Amino acid sequence: MARPLTATVDLEAILQNYRYAKKLQPTCKAFAVVKSNAYGHGAVEVSRYLDEEVDAFAVAAIEEAVALREAGIVSPILLLEGVFEGEEWALCEKHGFWSALENAQQLDELQASHAKIEKIFLKLDSGMHRLGVDKETAPVFVAALKDSGQVGEVVLMTHFSCADDLSDLATMQQLAYFEQARQSIGDIEASVANSAAIMKWSVPEGGWIRPGIMLYGISPFAEVSGRAVGLRPAMTLSSKVISTRKLKQGDRVGYGLGYVAEEDHVLATVAVGYGDGYPRHAENGTPLQIDGKPACLAGRVSMDMITVRMQDFAAEPAMGQEVVLWGGDVPVEEVADYAGTIGYELVTRMTARPHYRYVRGEDSQ
Ligand SMILES: Cc1ncc(COP(=O)(O)O)c(C=O)c1O
Repeated sequence: MARPLTATVDLEAILQNYRYAKKLQPTCKAFAVVKSNAYGHGAVEVSRYLDEEVDAFAVAAIEEAVALREAGIVSPILLLEGVFEGEEWALCEKHGFWSALENAQQLDELQASHAKIEKIFLKLDSGMHRLGVDKETAPVFVAALKDSGQVGEVVLMTHFSCADDLSDLATMQQLAYFEQARQSIGDIEASVANSAAIMKWSVPEGGWIRPGIMLYGISPFAEVSGRAVGLRPAMTLSSKVISTRKLKQGDRVGYGLGYVAEEDHVLATVAVGYGDGYPRHAENGTPLQIDGKPACLAGRVSMDMITVRMQDFAAEPAMGQEVVLWGGDVPVEEVADYAGTIGYELVTRMTARPHYRYVRGEDSQ
């Protein structure tokens, strides 16, 4: 391996985080949400590791589900956005996929396809106003799905807009709306909770939870790290110092000369850039570690490189030293904050360019 940039993914951490989600909602079955390449961690590798244990997987769309089946995944797979074209229903039947259903076109196309689907997750728009039917329409859809004779079971599903904000009343309102819909339908399983709701809200007993970000050890809450909420961060992005130079006070660095040395110090150049998924908007001061010591970004992020300095100017960085961009003691949530985004975005924007290394527990690293 030439370029020393590695994303180390701890599969055991993901399994332990899945178990933690189930422990928090012990009456529920749980999806492992592996859409968007398992939030950048590698959907096939992650799903293979979890396949024997999970109740089911969830992805956004059918092509993600087919890729998992082709990789030998046998657990049920739910399409969270349902199908985009009527022909996909036949493929759902063929592969045994479960599907969300959220509009009349999907219902019509399902009926026209005559496909048999084991579980349909009917999406209720309980207030997010992005996908789903309202509470008056939901019972009509449930009846149509049952009457079609094509569907084994209908589950009522919704998604929260503000579950990560405990002070926002929207989640309570969405839950109340959901319960009204559920009562008007009668006996139906529920699926409402993403990571934030699993961790902090009281959600309906039984049914299905849908943990995503927490599986990867990343906090769904602003200003709190995954570790601080009992999770095991799964990804460590690390690289090496590939060049060093002495700066004089006032020297300026990188594109736009966006960093100015406050005093004489050694600057290190590290092999990682926005071409790998490291955020271009990360500001001077974004935390990282060099050789286990606190360091930070000093200069604008390039496509293939960043320039950095030690927090303590006296501790000089040296060629070949290990640099942790996130993971371990460098919370990805904090890096994201310096780049004006969230941990979700940093990991899902990882490119195929770093070397991906899969380990099973911290001992094997
Ligand atoms: C419908 C649905 N359920 C569950 C999830 C998982 O959410 P989180 O990653 O916040 O746990 C998502 C992610 O966006 C989603 O769209």
